[in-house]
Amino acid sequence: MEDEALRPRLWLLDAKDLCFENGITDRRLAEISQNHARYIDRTGEDPSSTTLEATGDGLSYHVIDGNRLAAFAPDVVEFYKTTLRQAIGRTMAMNIRAQAELRGALSLNRLDNASRYEQHVDESTFTAILYLSSFEIDSGGELVFDRTDSAPAVRITPMPYCLLVCAATDWPHKVTRLPVGKERLCLVMNYWAEGASQARPEGLDEYLYG
Ligand SMILES: [Fe+2]
Repeated sequence: MEDEALRPRLWLLDAKDLCFENGITDRRLAEISQNHARYIDRTGEDPSSTTLEATGDGLSYHVIDGNRLAAFAPDVVEFYKTTLRQAIGRTMAMNIRAQAELRGALSLNRLDNASRYEQHVDESTFTAILYLSSFEIDSGGELVFDRTDSAPAVRITPMPYCLLVCAATDWPHKVTRLPVGKERLCLVMNYWAEGASQARPEGLDEYLYG
């Protein structure tokens, strides 16, 4: 039986070997992002239903959604659906599902131009983030989880092939503003507990992917 006193909400895993074995490299994904990403700029627009900030600073980034990744890098989608899903499931000792609706199931995100990612909560049971860029500690570009009643504040500095898995449907988090001249690339993937409803809020995918 699960011990309610200690509830894991965040895991940090070394995914370098698994990525290399499956042809997932930072250079390759950076090239795919440079060639195929769409620029989304929500500055000044109404925030999405999962955003926890007032409009104004917004979200601006270069993104490739799951449908377009399937066209440009089908093996990356397959990695998400099978190899990585199984590896994460084994680590967490539970079966997890890939998201059936592909567009919002995973995305390749690139922040640049001293941008940031607005504070929000996630929809999926688990979010997995594969980092593909390197940052100095306390230099910006960190993922910051707020302190809540049940979880402490956590700051994660990106490092290539570090895989972060979090349960953050009620744990607000954001990416701090990047230093000028730096790019921040990561693959963001949604996983669901078996039997969980995979419903996405109306308009969320349009907000995130255009
Ligand atoms: Fe998130």
